[in-house]
Amino acid sequence: MKPRLRCLLGTDQLTVTEIDALLTLARRMDPNRPPQLLRGKRVVLLFYEPSTRTRTSFEFAAKALGAATTLITATSSSIEKGESLIDTGWTVTSLGADAIVMRHPNSGAPYLLSRYIPVPVINAGDGLHQHPSQALLDALTITNHKKRLKGLRVVIVGDVFHSRVARSNAILLSKFGAEVIFCGPPDLVPDVSATIAPGVVACHDLDAALQGADVVMSLRIQKERLAGKQISLEDYIAKFQVTPQRMKLARPSAIVMHPGPIVRGLELANEVADGPQSCMHEQVANGVKTRMAILATVLKAAR
Ligand code: NCD
Repeated sequence: MKPRLRCLLGTDQLTVTEIDALLTLARRMDPNRPPQLLRGKRVVLLFYEPSTRTRTSFEFAAKALGAATTLITATSSSIEKGESLIDTGWTVTSLGADAIVMRHPNSGAPYLLSRYIPVPVINAGDGLHQHPSQALLDALTITNHKKRLKGLRVVIVGDVFHSRVARSNAILLSKFGAEVIFCGPPDLVPDVSATIAPGVVACHDLDAALQGADVVMSLRIQKERLAGKQISLEDYIAKFQVTPQRMKLARPSAIVMHPGPIVRGLELANEVADGPQSCMHEQVANGVKTRMAILATVLKAAR
């Protein structure tokens, strides 16, 4: 038998059954009437990178379930004094942490830590690699609208190359038989990016990608990442901004998603970001329920 989920590191490690179980539990979680499943537990939020949504929702999720939380950031802790990741992990564990939620700019950092310390590690985003809780909350949002993932046409548009959200989502969605289309200029969507999971294709023409789309997931564009690239900001907006006109190419029932933070007027037109097809606020709210389910699951397995 497969061991129970002890750490949540990436969507690649999850089976379809484990994902279904996490989503079912997340649907049952009510942040206003939470079960006190984690009373007496201590959850450490170890954030080496800025975060608003992910950090706050993990904190609210842990507190809703009755756990105590503490936040450690790179700039106001011994990390600034040069303490290594593993030493920080051991310190936090010796202080009595029952789980560590961790964000780090280097791909693989939570995997490394999980090999050294005895408490569960939850990856809240590592470099360009994985952001599994975001992919799970996105799957919850999609299934709330579409009831299933199989056969859906999901267009992920923007800076796919630098996006752990794109990678985690594509791997999760393809496990369920969704068709995933990565879309953007070749500099930001190299053709090899489509090799990360079966059922993923790369496309450099947004109008073609949007034909018949069920889900349009837009990703943040960092202006500085376009520096030195073949495409200018103006060209990007002209070719790849998700606009009301372009949304007419997708199915009328299509939903628009974005992990946030959005850069207004760049990756999405305001009418789309604030329009009736946008699920962005719902994604954020689902983040709390999903992270409640994740914490409850890994801490139960750690018992
Ligand atoms: C994303 C991240 O940090 O990976 N944001 C998030 O967690 N909601 C995406 C981004 O920063 O563009």
